Amino acid sequence: MKIPLMNLSVQYEQLKDDIDRTIEEIALNSRFVLGKETQDFEQAICKYCNVKYAVGVASGTDALILALTALGITKGEEVITTPFTFMATAEAISRVGARPVFVDIDRRTYNIDPAKIEKAITPNTKAIIPVHLYGNPCDMDSVLKIAGEHKLKVIEDAAQAIAATYNNRKIGSFGDAGCLSFFPSKNLGAFGDGGMVLTNEKDIAEKLKLLRVHGTTSKYRHSVIGFNSRLDNLQAAILSIKLRKLDEWTEKRRKIARRYNTALKDISTIPQEQDKGKHVYHLYAIRVKQEKRDALLSFLNENGVESRVYYPIPLHLQECYKELGYKEGDFPEAESAALETLVLPLFSEIDEDQQKYVIKMVKKGV
Ligand SMILES: Cc1ncc(COP(=O)(O)O)c(C=O)c1O
Repeated sequence: MKIPLMNLSVQYEQLKDDIDRTIEEIALNSRFVLGKETQDFEQAICKYCNVKYAVGVASGTDALILALTALGITKGEEVITTPFTFMATAEAISRVGARPVFVDIDRRTYNIDPAKIEKAITPNTKAIIPVHLYGNPCDMDSVLKIAGEHKLKVIEDAAQAIAATYNNRKIGSFGDAGCLSFFPSKNLGAFGDGGMVLTNEKDIAEKLKLLRVHGTTSKYRHSVIGFNSRLDNLQAAILSIKLRKLDEWTEKRRKIARRYNTALKDISTIPQEQDKGKHVYHLYAIRVKQEKRDALLSFLNENGVESRVYYPIPLHLQECYKELGYKEGDFPEAESAALETLVLPLFSEIDEDQQKYVIKMVKKGV
């Protein structure tokens, strides 16, 4: 048996007629950039996430860069985030000229540990970027409380967490801005790159709309230096069709995760859903002893079960961040998570036999 980590073609097969028809329509109309489809999808996301404004951009990475820019974060300023995330989170901070300041993670959730944030705040700190890693919501009550007390902006990196909730509110709707990614493998994935910034602030939404089109106020008039970062109509139209299925797919993911949890809880550390947070299992990561992890990873991959590590090197130890001056041992929880976790196949259409095979192989290989 061969079980991939994710299987994107089955979602297309489910929606093929609608998607094919939409692509043909857009091609025949030659309406490719910032048209009705993008506006419709932005409105659909506003409704889905219960936010006032949603601005489609070219990727999740751009969503972070534009959000930081719109909030005025710039050279010489500091932004606090987690070292256990995809590179894009910190890269966006560096791209606007600010400095990423890392804070270790909570061992149970793999998300930034709010108890350690205050120590990292300096007079230069301007914002916090909590990342809802693997689709598991951060402790937003604590993050917002600290941000409020220190007058810091909050930009949620919700790239992996669309549909997740905290206190029954959609993730991405808590901060000054929330950033989504529609990279194809995400729980709501496009047929290429795509992203979105969510906000409840009118002036931030207006800045974002300016920034994504070269700062254009009217034809060939530019009030600020912007970007070329737009969500294509084709992607927006495809995403609108897929959005109708997102809740169904999310519930299936949660059911599959529960089956893994029951089967694997005695031989590994399973994902920890928190009381107030609803996890959407973008990635299903288990944790085993460091001595066993790499052997288990090889065993699974040799036996047809695709398994990977997200992420093997925490950002503070990446070569590109040498100049920040961090060293091994600075963030022990992030470092041990990088050595002890591995991700198992999880997609909404995985069937019971496939899942049983994964479980059998994990038990055999551990
Ligand atoms: C946590 C996180 N932040 C940001 C991004 C960037 O999103 P994109 O790939 O759409 O640029 C990703 C994508 O993998 C991500 O996982």
